Amino acid sequence: MNFQGARAVRDLFVAALIFGLSFTSNQALAQDNGAIHLGVQTCAASTCHGAVQPWQNSVVLQNEFVVWSTHDAHSGAYKALQSDRGKRIAARLGIGAAHESGTCLQCHADNVSEDRRGNNFDITSGVGCESCHGGAENWLGTHVSGLSDRPTLVSLGMYPTDDPVKRAELCLGCHQANPDRIVSHRLMAAGHPRLSFELDTFSINQPAHVRIDDDYRQRKPVTDGANLWAIGQAVAAGNQLRALAKSMRGRNHLFPEFTFFECGSCHHSYTNAKWSPQPGVGLGPGEPQLYDANLVMLRAIAEGRDSKLADTLKSQTRALHRATRQGASAVARAADTLAGTVDGMTRNLVENPLREADLKATLATLVSRDHSSDYVDFGAAEQATMAAAALLDSLGRSAPQQLESLYEATESPTRYSSSGFRSALAKLRDYLN
Ligand code: HEC
Ligand code: HEC
Ligand code: HEC
Ligand code: HEC
Repeated sequence: MNFQGARAVRDLFVAALIFGLSFTSNQALAQDNGAIHLGVQTCAASTCHGAVQPWQNSVVLQNEFVVWSTHDAHSGAYKALQSDRGKRIAARLGIGAAHESGTCLQCHADNVSEDRRGNNFDITSGVGCESCHGGAENWLGTHVSGLSDRPTLVSLGMYPTDDPVKRAELCLGCHQANPDRIVSHRLMAAGHPRLSFELDTFSINQPAHVRIDDDYRQRKPVTDGANLWAIGQAVAAGNQLRALAKSMRGRNHLFPEFTFFECGSCHHSYTNAKWSPQPGVGLGPGEPQLYDANLVMLRAIAEGRDSKLADTLKSQTRALHRATRQGASAVARAADTLAGTVDGMTRNLVENPLREADLKATLATLVSRDHSSDYVDFGAAEQATMAAAALLDSLGRSAPQQLESLYEATESPTRYSSSGFRSALAKLRDYLN
């Protein structure tokens, strides 16, 4: 076997260890359309997307490349693998150089196979235009002709980033678990940052390289921040549940994959016990709890719109938590059931977007005392903080001091205190009343 071949086999082996046996180095992502990727330079000409300043008379900004290369973390994703931290993680995992390992490149670059790399393709560009917009081989010609409409381009393989469900699947493919990519505790233990994601916040922070104006609205549907938030929660919960079910089914070892659990249910000091039973979860102190932050958010949305759905979510979530006492196949079954409910909710959110009254009700539920037992763990508190920001913004309300307190209370998972979070939440509750 030659060196490349040996490396590919080793990458597959390591990928299987890190992602569970389901993962192979060439697993298709949501946005993978099978086409040749032409490379960031192909998009970056000054009359295309590489202008220094936004163009005033153009339908798109045209400085997307400059925004991406100077302000967007994705352009540095490959370089992160060559940083001290990147090298340290790879050394601990024993996978050779991080920047040559498919295990890392899957998320840190546009890692299509060699035969799908065009002349200008450069792996060191990191997460480039085609990682999100899809390989351009079949749509570039029509796209530069300027005559094509959006549906035509999408039919030629351009990824529908404007569709909120598709966008969530795209981002979550690298930012959280999905059934094809189960991020392992081993990767975290080797020093990788903990992954957390919220679609609206991260879409703003990327930073966005679009201008939403009249002409954009003519070409594409626009989803406001609160609805992006809600759909992002539903897609994340569905992904997580299907990944959990898959991982539990294929299990032939003693321990389940720890990343499906709240990090803080194991990683907290035992000399300073928190001893907080969680009625919503149905488990007692001392029992590790599955990460359920997205489900907590979905329940808050349901409570204001459909109390029957809220009850179903509550009882099925509780059943899932309690199934962890019974074993792997009980967890897989409960996760499948709940995933069905969540998928129905995703469809409903697309067909009946949240309106002002729903946003107010959801925010009131999230900050209410009744929900305080949901914030024993860091995960739900972190999501509730990003939710509050998205909901306040969509309601046109500003509460900078109250949000600041929430951000402070969720700054670090290891220093998190639920009582500190609850008092920050009470400030927002008082302000809203
Ligand atoms: C499932 C996708 C995924 C895989 C696989 C992955 N990463 Fe990451 N990595 C991310 C994401 C997403 C972030 C950004 C997290 C955030 O800030 O929210 C990140 C962040 C990092 C950072 C911090 C970057 C910075 O600027 O601070 C380093 C270093 C890193 N990853 C190294 C690695 C190495 C080395 C590997 C392979 C062993 C790897 N990653 C595998 C998705 C992944
Ligand atoms: C991490 C994912 C991601 C990367 C990387 C990325 N984009 Fe985008 N892009 C988006 C999203 C999301 C939108 C907003 C949704 C939409 O308008 O389709 C968008 C919108 C756009 C638009 C606006 C389209 C319009 O109709 O107004 C252009 C143009 C664009 N991107 C070009 C680029 C170029 C060029 C690059 C590389 C230099 C790039 N993008 C890199 C995700 C990405
Ligand atoms: C191909 C994998 C991939 C996809 C798809 C992807 N990301 Fe990322 N994203 C990364 C990696 C890797 C990093 C970390 C880069 C670094 O810091 O070096 C990152 C970083 C980020 C950051 C900066 C995080 C921080 O802590 O500073 C934001 C914001 C972000 N991504 C938003 C998005 C959004 C929104 C989408 C979907 C439109 C998306 N990403 C799609 C891989 C991806
Ligand atoms: C079910 C319990 C459990 C859960 C949940 C859990 N871990 Fe761990 N973690 C452990 C154990 C056990 C170790 C190994 C400790 C050792 O090596 O001394 C560990 C080690 C680590 C380490 C390495 C620490 C060191 O000193 O070597 C990191 C970092 C880490 N975990 C991060 C996380 C993150 C992030 C999450 C959530 C995504 C998480 N863990 C969820 C049990 C857990």
